[in-house]
Amino acid sequence: MFRYFGSKASTASVVANIALDGYKDATVADAFGGLGNIGAEFKKRGCSVTACDLLHFPNAFQHVRLVCEGLPNFSRVRKFLGVDSEEDILSYLNSQFSDGCWFAKEYAEARGFFTATNAAKIGAVWLKIKSWKNLELIDIDEEKFLIASLLNSMDAVANTAGTYYAYLKGWDRKSLKEFSFEWYRGVVKGPKGIAVRGDALSYLTDKSFEILYLDPPYNGRDYSRYYHLPETLAKFEEVSIDSNSKCGQPILRSTVGTQIRNAMKLPYLMELINSVHWERLVVQYADGAHICLNELKQALGGQGTLTVHEIPALGYQSTNGTRQHTHHVFVIDK
Ligand SMILES: C[S@@+](CC[C@H](N)C(=O)[O-])C[C@H]1O[C@@H](n2cnc3c(N)ncnc32)[C@H](O)[C@@H]1O
Repeated sequence: MFRYFGSKASTASVVANIALDGYKDATVADAFGGLGNIGAEFKKRGCSVTACDLLHFPNAFQHVRLVCEGLPNFSRVRKFLGVDSEEDILSYLNSQFSDGCWFAKEYAEARGFFTATNAAKIGAVWLKIKSWKNLELIDIDEEKFLIASLLNSMDAVANTAGTYYAYLKGWDRKSLKEFSFEWYRGVVKGPKGIAVRGDALSYLTDKSFEILYLDPPYNGRDYSRYYHLPETLAKFEEVSIDSNSKCGQPILRSTVGTQIRNAMKLPYLMELINSVHWERLVVQYADGAHICLNELKQALGGQGTLTVHEIPALGYQSTNGTRQHTHHVFVIDK
């Protein structure tokens, strides 16, 4: 699975059980949805989930997990290619190769994020998906499914310690494996949800949910910089790359960093909490993060009846292994 800062994959099931205690088939907002790990657990338990994220590529993962009801059938692409099945589309994509493409030049030739062969394959698949989008051969489910599948398959052979902020000096073992485009197996059974690409406060203000779940950014690490490459690919933009940037950031840097940094602060969270109509608020927060735990507990306590759960969690995964953390799950009932 795509490695992501702050991923709640290791705690999602426990947190969903805590959050839903006493509820059945609830309406839930996952304001900072990320890759949709928590949203998917809520959906599995019968909830109707709305998730937000400022970035395009987490939105693609969320869309597959919360909105899609199965592997799309790609009827127009199949007709266009003259093939019968989704398996044929996989074989077709895996036969593509473009060693002169923008992606191969920037992220293999100029910077060792991928081997030359893998970059030629990844770049070629991306160009195909982009051309199908331009030709209007894919609908929104198909587009999100294709891009989430590409990013998930790409991340499995990336020569990185987990983010796209730097590539490794030598070739990591996984980066030497041959790239293969595989369908992302993220579809979850349950009520069809909503995945919104945008600011949580702007979208969720004045909306009503039984449960508001918050897993905000924990520190000043700017997701838009650390994950610039998947974000560029998810936007289908062949952007000009800053030749002075070792990790190949676009010349025009993303501007969402300020919004992300703002969202890690207590005033933003309190404004969000006060702008959404909820019955139960659930906030998941780690030790040692930006907001001091006592300050957070005090602010949340003023919103209703507060219970706090402490759960063990696995921290961010890198080549150095995982770190054990404690997560605090604050549950507030109005
Ligand atoms: C801690 S991560 C969430 C991880 C997620 N629960 C998971 O398991 O993958 C925080 C997420 O909030 C997003 N984010 C930051 N500021 C935001 C905002 N103002 N509105 C919506 N999403 C935001 C980030 O892009 C990031 O994906």
